[in-house]
Amino acid sequence: MLVATMRNHLVELVLLLLPVAITTAVAAVAAAAASKPNGNINLNSTLTAQENSSYWLSPSGDFAFGFIPLPSNPFLFLLAVYYANLSSSPTIIWIPFRNQTFSLNSSVVLTADGQLSLRDPSGAEVWNPSVQNAAYAAMLDSGNFVLASSDGTYLWESFSSPVDTILPTQSLLPDSKLIAKLADDDFNEGRFEIIMQGDGGLYFYSIAVPTGFLYSQYWDTNTNISNSRLFFNSTGRIDVVSATGEVISTLTTAVTKSTADFYHRGTIDPDGVFRHYVHQKPSTDGTAGEWKVMDFKPADICRALMTNVGSGVCGFNSYCGYDYSGMVACQCPEGYSWVDPKRTYKGCKPDFAMPSCNDGAQNVGFKMVAVSNLDFPLDDYDQFNPMNEDDCAQLCLNDCFCVASISDGVGNCWKKKFPLSNGVKGAYVRRTAFLKVGKNDTLPSYPPTAS
Ligand SMILES: *[C@@H]1O[C@H](CO)[C@@H](O)[C@H](O)[C@H]1NC(C)=O
Ligand SMILES: *[C@@H]1O[C@H](CO)[C@@H](O)[C@H](O)[C@H]1NC(C)=O
Ligand SMILES: *[C@@H]1O[C@H](CO)[C@@H](O)[C@H](O)[C@H]1NC(C)=O
Ligand SMILES: *[C@@H]1O[C@H](CO)[C@@H](O)[C@H](O)[C@H]1NC(C)=O
Ligand SMILES: *[C@@H]1O[C@H](CO)[C@@H](O)[C@H](O)[C@H]1NC(C)=O
Ligand SMILES: *[C@@H]1O[C@H](CO)[C@@H](O)[C@H](O)[C@H]1NC(C)=O
Ligand SMILES: *[C@@H]1O[C@H](CO)[C@@H](O)[C@H](O)[C@H]1NC(C)=O
Ligand SMILES: *[C@@H]1O[C@H](CO)[C@@H](O)[C@H](O)[C@H]1NC(C)=O
Repeated sequence: MLVATMRNHLVELVLLLLPVAITTAVAAVAAAAASKPNGNINLNSTLTAQENSSYWLSPSGDFAFGFIPLPSNPFLFLLAVYYANLSSSPTIIWIPFRNQTFSLNSSVVLTADGQLSLRDPSGAEVWNPSVQNAAYAAMLDSGNFVLASSDGTYLWESFSSPVDTILPTQSLLPDSKLIAKLADDDFNEGRFEIIMQGDGGLYFYSIAVPTGFLYSQYWDTNTNISNSRLFFNSTGRIDVVSATGEVISTLTTAVTKSTADFYHRGTIDPDGVFRHYVHQKPSTDGTAGEWKVMDFKPADICRALMTNVGSGVCGFNSYCGYDYSGMVACQCPEGYSWVDPKRTYKGCKPDFAMPSCNDGAQNVGFKMVAVSNLDFPLDDYDQFNPMNEDDCAQLCLNDCFCVASISDGVGNCWKKKFPLSNGVKGAYVRRTAFLKVGKNDTLPSYPPTAS
């Protein structure tokens, strides 16, 4: 539905390019265009959340501000700044409310006295950026949506309160942050944030949902010149820049795609990785195109993030790895499956009844399976040395508290607390995990001779 709506916008744009309205149908479209000007938005202008909502377009046609329907429900809308001319589903840059959707007939009014007022279907105001006497609003070609006074001074701008994305010419100012979405289709505050601290360091943190409590830092620029900011240069570089304009640190290697021909954006993604994306501009290409990753930080979040509290990069009982396209791919270990396959951050549940210490014959219903190169760092409740792999597995099988043990193959054995956290799998993980699963599971048991 969302994609269909965007295609409708495209159709309208193409029709607008026709020199003369030759049919009444085209005339009707042209009349509708009055509500989506390619320039300043005058006082007394209104956008209404509808089946085919109107929107305010930037002069180039690259960006729009308006209501867009949720993919899951065409009668609920997000108010957003988004790329207006991408044929793929819209990429949202900014929204005033992460946790709220708006029903049909909600509206945004630029009032006669120069206020921007977001209203529910009954006309009651639900938000206002507290600006009086704006002379006009404007959706700029930079992606910045502004309220301006008659002399052109910006009284308010969306660039001042970024959500999860920054664009060329935009800064992340000292003591401000970007917070990832919870999931690709969920704008609620997610599990990761980037803070540009007043002391000059740019820090990445995993955070609690809800409340935003800081769990663990997993990347930083190692910079300390106070009042620095993160700056997305119009040339496409993303740098930490001092108050005097000196580049202190860079998050981009080399800019190989010009900002003239490509859209650029920097986004802290729901998986905790900050990615510098580029997309060929439709006006220079004409093909559908797609977002491509130019650069990203940290280099390997699976290794960079370990946390004492919280689940780590992936959800509880899940482990971190990379997929073929370089995106973080969380997986469930043997004997476990997703709590919610569409929301993998919720973690994995055991496919067996958990061991109980109340059963007389403990652990008769269980066996151990061995998984190479898998570890759940931190959160040990016991450690043994020296101990070989077989004994490490057997010790966990015989312990009604134990769901997993880890062996490093050179004498160390750790028993792990449930739920498992910080899961990581990869050739560089020189550990073997022994997972306790139900005996009737078809997985081969460890050691192989045990039944
Ligand atoms: C706004 O609309 C009101 C009522 O419709 C009208 O009286 C007023 O002149 C308009 N103001 C502007 C600036 O267009
Ligand atoms: C919305 O646009 C589509 C396609 O242009 C059209 O078929 C439909 O009637 C429109 N709906 C409304 C309520 O205008
Ligand atoms: C949305 O978040 C804001 C603060 O971020 C909070 O004040 C408000 O109560 C939240 N609304 C809902 C519906 O959760
Ligand atoms: C929305 O507004 C239209 C036109 O004013 C009206 O016909 C319709 O009943 C309204 N829908 C809802 C759900 O309020
Ligand atoms: C800032 O960083 C520099 C170089 O990394 C270091 O020498 C200096 O001690 C740091 N200053 C403070 C106040 O941390
Ligand atoms: C932006 O980048 C250009 C060249 O890459 C550089 O000359 C300029 O100083 C940069 N601007 C800032 C504010 O860092
Ligand atoms: C929108 O995209 C089409 C190709 O999909 C392109 O021909 C057109 O020039 C673009 N319009 C703008 C305003 O960039
Ligand atoms: C064995 O399998 C059955 C059904 O597949 C399941 O209900 C039961 O919990 C399993 N036993 C254990 C100990 O997990």
